Amino acid sequence: MPNHFNCSIYTVFPSPKQKIAYPDVTLLSDSLSLARGEYLIFGPAHCVGCHSKKEDEAAVKNGEIVALAGGKFFDTPMGNIYIPNITPDFETGIGNLSNGEIARAMRYAVYHTGRVMDQECLLRI
Ligand code: HEC
Repeated sequence: MPNHFNCSIYTVFPSPKQKIAYPDVTLLSDSLSLARGEYLIFGPAHCVGCHSKKEDEAAVKNGEIVALAGGKFFDTPMGNIYIPNITPDFETGIGNLSNGEIARAMRYAVYHTGRVMDQECLLRI
């Protein structure tokens, strides 16, 4: 398993821990809200472009719904950027994260451990 910390300037300058509070979110699970989320993730927000598996690239291009299982690397001048699994899997995904942790990652680009997220996700969300 690669160390995705080595892709950021925080290898040299330790990532500041953020004291940002968890956003107060209400989880909507009605079919309209779920459909809207799916539309955004696989459409304009294009989360799937990064968070899908490499072997699913053709399916993503065809507009298919695939698992956001991550595992890809982006080779950048600053090093490899590792894309995490954001499925609800409890061991490999974000199934153990609270709604607040997920909302904080998306709103403030703070990883669940409390560090500032790598710019790749930060710039896109
Ligand atoms: C350009 C690539 C890219 C795109 C597009 C992208 N992400 Fe990410 N995402 C990342 C990377 C890289 C990380 C890991 C950041 C880190 O380790 O600092 C990440 C981390 C996350 C995390 C944090 C997981 C955790 O364990 O704390 C969540 C949640 C997330 N992304 C959701 C999304 C959502 C939702 C979208 C679409 C709105 C999205 N991402 C779009 C690259 C991307």
